Amino acid sequence: MKDLQARFHDIIAPVIAFDSEIEIIDGKGSWVTDRDGKQYLDFACGIAVTNLGHRPDAVVAAAQAQLNKLWHAGGAFIYEPIVTAAEHIIDIAPDGIDKMLFMNSGAEAVEASVKLARKVSGRQGIITFRGGFHGRTMGAVTYTTSKAKYRQGYHPLLPSTFVVPYPHPYGWGMSQEDANAYALRELEFKFRYEVTPGEVAAFLIEPMQGEGGYYPASKPYLDALRAIADEHGILLIMDEVQTGFGRTGDWFTSQVYDVRPDIIVMGKAIANGLPLSGVGGSSAIMDKWMPGSHGATFGGNPVSCAASAATVQELKSVVPTVNETSRHAFERWNDLKAKHASIGDVRGLGLMIGIELVKADGSPDPDAFAAIASYAHEVGMFILNCGPDGNIIRFIPPLNISRDDLDRGIDILGDAITAYEA
Ligand SMILES: Cc1ncc(COP(=O)(O)O)c(C=O)c1O
Repeated sequence: MKDLQARFHDIIAPVIAFDSEIEIIDGKGSWVTDRDGKQYLDFACGIAVTNLGHRPDAVVAAAQAQLNKLWHAGGAFIYEPIVTAAEHIIDIAPDGIDKMLFMNSGAEAVEASVKLARKVSGRQGIITFRGGFHGRTMGAVTYTTSKAKYRQGYHPLLPSTFVVPYPHPYGWGMSQEDANAYALRELEFKFRYEVTPGEVAAFLIEPMQGEGGYYPASKPYLDALRAIADEHGILLIMDEVQTGFGRTGDWFTSQVYDVRPDIIVMGKAIANGLPLSGVGGSSAIMDKWMPGSHGATFGGNPVSCAASAATVQELKSVVPTVNETSRHAFERWNDLKAKHASIGDVRGLGLMIGIELVKADGSPDPDAFAAIASYAHEVGMFILNCGPDGNIIRFIPPLNISRDDLDRGIDILGDAITAYEA
């Protein structure tokens, strides 16, 4: 029998890039274990999904109980877990969001949010933000500009999509204020030269860019966008697939910034790893969506919904601790930045922190990330990168990680950076 790596590559389409060849067989809390029994601190969290760590007891119990009762209903019946999951989410959602649609993946929910915006506004245009990531399906990849590679070979993409800059102060060598002013001026030009605001159904934006490089948007910029949306009757869709469920210090980043979304898109941590995503909106918007004009066979799966309600319940004692853990992590990263020339920038919100690795001339250093990740693997830790150049460490530990494990992770990365610089 061939080993698993060989069997895997023989039969699994290579298009999905796996970040390592480590074969894991078990995960609990902040740790995963490979087939040889080696343990890894998991700071990837399945790409910001397992906010409560792997297999939290309460979520396991809720999913198992539901498995023993009913695990699929499709569009045939109504069932309690979907209602309970929605009630839990609406309870913590930004003000004004009082109805939910459940889908399966982030991309699917993004596409649903755009269909909703078009349906209720009667307009076609969608404005997206350079560096944004919204998923890989045809519509979602149209809205994704975090890397040209994601779109390469798939054109033509959907028409009536307009891309404007998202403030990237560090990348542009500007202050946040100047980057905001530049980005807003470009939006004004978009309206003047390419599409009138009256033709635009929605802004689709991540309140903190994830895949594109861990750039928080800043409150003044989002406030300005909200005001422009209100002025022109444009809907503000916040894609909180990666930023949601406590990751940035409050339940959602729109609450961190106190900026109201008209439509909010959720996924990833919504059920701590069981497949589920959601679109939230006000009844005024949702009730205009004609029955039967959108749907999905598996959307709102009962087991995923039971896991989601338990996840939200468990997160209630964790989310209030995130800012304190975040302060500690930022303090430690800023100390490391003072010591290491290869750390160009440390930025983020809550426990969604980007550490940008640069060469002596300040340009992106993807080799640094590769070396640091490989050092971390050796000693038993797993991390991911982000940004178009793959040079930014995505620092996304579980939100309930112990202080010891958090410090251990930062120590490992600090040692890895020292080794790389040597
Ligand atoms: C902000 C954002 N939106 C949408 C998606 C797509 O989610 P999925 O991979 O579940 O389709 C992602 C995935 O990384 C994301 O980060």
